[in-house]
Amino acid sequence: MPKTITMIAVAAETPELADKAAELAARLEIPLDETGSADYPLLLEVTVEGLQLRRTGPGAPGPIRIDFTSGRAEYRRRHSKGRKETLVRAMGIKGKLRPTVLDGTAGLGRDAFVLACRGCKVEMLERNPVIAALLEDGLRRAGADPEIGPLVRERMSLSKGDILLEATRMEEERRPEVVYLDPMYPHRNKSALVKKEMRILRTLVGDDEDSDRLLSAALTVATKRVVVKRPAAATPLPGAKPDLDFKTKSHRFDVYFIREQSRSGQK
Ligand SMILES: C[S@@+](CC[C@H](N)C(=O)[O-])C[C@H]1O[C@@H](n2cnc3c(N)ncnc32)[C@H](O)[C@@H]1O
Repeated sequence: MPKTITMIAVAAETPELADKAAELAARLEIPLDETGSADYPLLLEVTVEGLQLRRTGPGAPGPIRIDFTSGRAEYRRRHSKGRKETLVRAMGIKGKLRPTVLDGTAGLGRDAFVLACRGCKVEMLERNPVIAALLEDGLRRAGADPEIGPLVRERMSLSKGDILLEATRMEEERRPEVVYLDPMYPHRNKSALVKKEMRILRTLVGDDEDSDRLLSAALTVATKRVVVKRPAAATPLPGAKPDLDFKTKSHRFDVYFIREQSRSGQK
């Protein structure tokens, strides 16, 4: 039985949302917790404010919901004009250059949103069905927002799928200029510094054990560069040597330029 099925159930916040919860559970093929008494480590809750993911049990952090209109996402959007985020520099966004982006490991869509705010068209790929459902819900609500709705609808799209597979069947005209990757990295220490979102995400998806194959897949579809986000002290993904890197205190963005010859050599 897949790990997701044994550890998560869908629940409704109120009796009025029970049908919606049942529909979602059936679509995602995960159990429905109708009584609230079952013992699942994670609950995907249908609430009036949207879909949220919550860890259960004593000491569990609060739920996470994807909300591009408030908090850190809102802060990063408001400050997107002045400050040059390291991510933005690594992606090659400068002057009038706004590359098309495939975010191959979309997660909670935070990085994709920053790139969309900077003017890039971002196609997101997420393979975990629960994360994809959260993201879909976040995009739907953001798309209806009077302020950021137009930006989200025009520049952000989501597909459910695995980049390792999608890369093998991507048509020439769909190839993005930049592929961005941010796979889950195995954190050996359980430091409190690992943010709430990441802890919940990790409970759900574990470590991306096959991330070693991501780089070569990305190099076959990007037309200009591949950018990989890594923890500051981590080694680069295997497969090629980065041409450049951009560092922050906690992260590093490894940049690989596409040379047409090397790309066709990998196909
Ligand atoms: C660390 S999170 C990404 C966080 C994201 N950059 C953000 O800003 O929210 C990694 C995500 O990549 C997804 N993922 C890992 N490998 C993937 C693959 N081969 N194809 C699609 N999604 C993948 C995982 O399911 C997980 O949700």
